[in-house]
Amino acid sequence: MEEKIAVELKNISFGYSQDITNIDDISFKVKRGEYLTLIGHNGSGKSTIARLITGLLLQRSGDINILGETMTDDNVLRLRKNIGIIFQNPDNQFIGSSVRDDIAFGLENDCVAEDRMEAIVDEYSQKVGMKNFLDKEPTNLSGGQKQRVAIAGALARHPQILIMDESTSMLDPKGKRGILDLIHRIKKEDENLTIISITHDIQEAYDSDHVIVIASGKKILDGTPDEVFNNSQRMIDLKLDIPFFKKLNIELENKGLAKYKSNSLESLVNKLCR
Ligand SMILES: Nc1ncnc2c1ncn2[C@@H]1O[C@H](COP(=O)(O)OP(=O)(O)O)[C@@H](O)[C@H]1O
Ligand SMILES: [Mg+2]
Repeated sequence: MEEKIAVELKNISFGYSQDITNIDDISFKVKRGEYLTLIGHNGSGKSTIARLITGLLLQRSGDINILGETMTDDNVLRLRKNIGIIFQNPDNQFIGSSVRDDIAFGLENDCVAEDRMEAIVDEYSQKVGMKNFLDKEPTNLSGGQKQRVAIAGALARHPQILIMDESTSMLDPKGKRGILDLIHRIKKEDENLTIISITHDIQEAYDSDHVIVIASGKKILDGTPDEVFNNSQRMIDLKLDIPFFKKLNIELENKGLAKYKSNSLESLVNKLCR
């Protein structure tokens, strides 16, 4: 059976002005149901890629396919309905005076009937653990709670693709863990949901299905987490972080202790403590 592709970039180039190239001939495929993480330094072009995928920016050359259709001026608005986006700063995405209004906002835009709206808002606030906050003012919520509400608002519209642009980077470790656990839970419930997460969290990348490394507008690495992070030297050259146990593997090897090298932190600890 042919694998379904949720998003495909074919030789995409883009510049914010004519004499600049911010995205340089990038191609990649994201399968349906995949959890992709995009990593790279600030300014490397990750958010620009997200804006191109959502059709908020128009590429200079190349094609973007969303769920098998090439994006054009004529279908961009329809294709965009398949995509939900959650940004870095939860304060930039609130408009309503209550959590309920916020989750309902996108549904109103989609002209969902008033009588169906309540059930949908209930269902999604429940999913993200914010049902008891429906009448609260969004401004009084913690960062993690605001992101939960943003996720509920995005998912309530049944997107097939969810893009998270550094959605956990402003949260403390506990808030971050909470959001990532929530995403993994939602993903389990809906196996076809495709996630594109732009992140600096190396553990999140390691736990994803597919990792793409961007540097200076170019795609540098593209593969499974193991394929990408086994290129440790390349990552270090790019001054990008690698998972802790990979760093430890390198140090062990340098000290002549290669026999302790392991595929996870857990197995490393087991070998060391045997
Ligand atoms: N609205 C804009 N106008 C002009 N240049 C921009 C704009 N947004 C981003 N850029 C530039 O494009 C490059 C990529 O930015 P961005 O995609 O935001 O990177 P990232 O999300 O990886 O931090 C950077 O050099 C940035 O300065
Ligand atoms: Mg960005």
